[in-house]
Amino acid sequence: MIEGQAKIVLTRRWPADVEQQMAQLGDLIRNETDAPMSGDQLSAALQEADIVCPTVTDSLSAGILAKRPVRARLLANFGAGFNHIDLNAAHQQGIAVTNTPDVLTDATAEIALTLMMMSARRASEGERQVRAQAWSGWRPTHMLSTQVSGRTLGIIGMGRIGLAFARMAHHGLGMRILYHNRNRIAESFELELQAQKVPLEHLLRSSDFVSVHCPSTTETHHLLDREHLALMPSHAHLINTARGDVVDESALLEALQSKSIAGAGLDVYEAEPTLTPGLIDLEQVVLLPHMGSGTTQTRRAMGMRALANVQAYLQGSPLPDQVTLR
Ligand code: 8YV
Repeated sequence: MIEGQAKIVLTRRWPADVEQQMAQLGDLIRNETDAPMSGDQLSAALQEADIVCPTVTDSLSAGILAKRPVRARLLANFGAGFNHIDLNAAHQQGIAVTNTPDVLTDATAEIALTLMMMSARRASEGERQVRAQAWSGWRPTHMLSTQVSGRTLGIIGMGRIGLAFARMAHHGLGMRILYHNRNRIAESFELELQAQKVPLEHLLRSSDFVSVHCPSTTETHHLLDREHLALMPSHAHLINTARGDVVDESALLEALQSKSIAGAGLDVYEAEPTLTPGLIDLEQVVLLPHMGSGTTQTRRAMGMRALANVQAYLQGSPLPDQVTLR
């Protein structure tokens, strides 16, 4: 247990009312500049604070977590994905890790839907044309795009977000759902969505739209490599709202440049905020700045979920969202 006031570090600025509530739990240290913290700043935070609340922009590698002495006992991550935290190293230091699942499911599925629609219907390209005052008016063959309703959507990673997106696509757009996942989903979900679990290669060959929803792990790193991307038909679009490194970004660039696939909608990148050179020059790719969970409601809910974990830790109660080693 912590003697006196717990020291809590927020590595980035959080929604104001959540910060205020967090300040009631201990001695709160905010990152006033809201700039990403350097490795040295993160090491200092781990040495000085009892609880550190990181985000996806904080690389808590084994190198940083192994530095001694470490005072921190809890990493209450603001986000569902935790691939930026070396879980083994945290475990070895006796630091618990929590995340914020569930609360960002719908917001992230909405961005997958947005990207699918924008990519298929050439929405970014059309908007760029209008803003550039380059639109010469309506004609029957102007900027023709591809219809989404009734087509096939292949979901890679049928967890909460994949399932929510499949529901939007099936119930809203009458799409046929294929999925690739380690385990079969509940039969009731398969029946509801008329969804079929298929091998990855089958999914890639048979889908008009492929959407990535699996976590970034050593097994999923570059899961969609050159060979796998080559299986997609030339009219297909790739959507990624999960983690950039699940897709080999250079291979994706080549596939887009050579038109071996028709388009892509991306919210995440391998080395955020840097993009593989060449990607921004392509008309047929929609590029969003990692905003899947970025609604006022969801970011507040994520903060409150992290706060609940901090609160439980301070009370010595079981952590509601503890992330464990597999
Ligand atoms: C978050 C996300 O905004 O929660 C996740 O896994 O990808 C994003 O929606 C980000 O990770 C916050 O740390």
